[in-house]
Amino acid sequence: MLKHFNAKSLFGMSFLVIFVLLSSGCDIIPGRHMRDQAKFEPLEASSLFGNERASQNLPENTVPRGEWYDIESNEALYTGMQDGEAVENIPIAVDRDVILRGQERFNIYCSPCHGRVGDGQGMIVQRGMKQPNSFHSEQVRSQPDGYYFNVMTNGFGVMYSYASRVNPEDRWAIVAYIRALQFSQNAPLDVLTEEDLEQIESVVE
Ligand code: HEC
Repeated sequence: MLKHFNAKSLFGMSFLVIFVLLSSGCDIIPGRHMRDQAKFEPLEASSLFGNERASQNLPENTVPRGEWYDIESNEALYTGMQDGEAVENIPIAVDRDVILRGQERFNIYCSPCHGRVGDGQGMIVQRGMKQPNSFHSEQVRSQPDGYYFNVMTNGFGVMYSYASRVNPEDRWAIVAYIRALQFSQNAPLDVLTEEDLEQIESVVE
């Protein structure tokens, strides 16, 4: 081995060593990880600005983007509550599109546990999650609209909050869809038209 150790191979080896050092980034130099780069932490002092603070106030009229709701501007809309009570009715206009949106969101976020029809027999429940009450039970049906919104916003028992995944408008859309599901199982006969009744009778016969 040694006899092959000449100037030429030494040059080759040092070239290799430099290549390895360069290609492995800064990590091999102790204390110079990328996470240790020069930067200001929140609330740190800095002589850069006159007030000696690294973090500056937001410029006037800055408009927040993304998930930010001015709850005080419309308590019912953003919390489902008014003066400590769950609101009776959905505070947004409900039409077919809202219900369809609610159906889509419900099937994505709620049906894995509550089942597509809201009976509490979703796949996760079949695999061992606690079975929630059916949305068709008298106890759940008799709750005001705001109750459902509140459960989605804050969670309920072992069910966690959906506030970070379902925005307030969509939460109301889901409430509208749950009402449609409940209606589908509990519609009083006298709200049905002649045509609806005939259709039901033809199916039942
Ligand atoms: C991971 C499973 C799971 C998902 C997903 C889920 N829930 Fe639940 N939910 C539960 C369980 C379990 C309970 C009962 C909790 C308890 O009693 O501790 C519950 C309770 C509820 C209740 C209260 C029922 C009652 O007895 O008063 C409502 C309303 C509700 N969920 C609505 C929803 C809606 C709407 C969604 C979708 C945004 C949703 N849940 C998503 C598991 C889930």
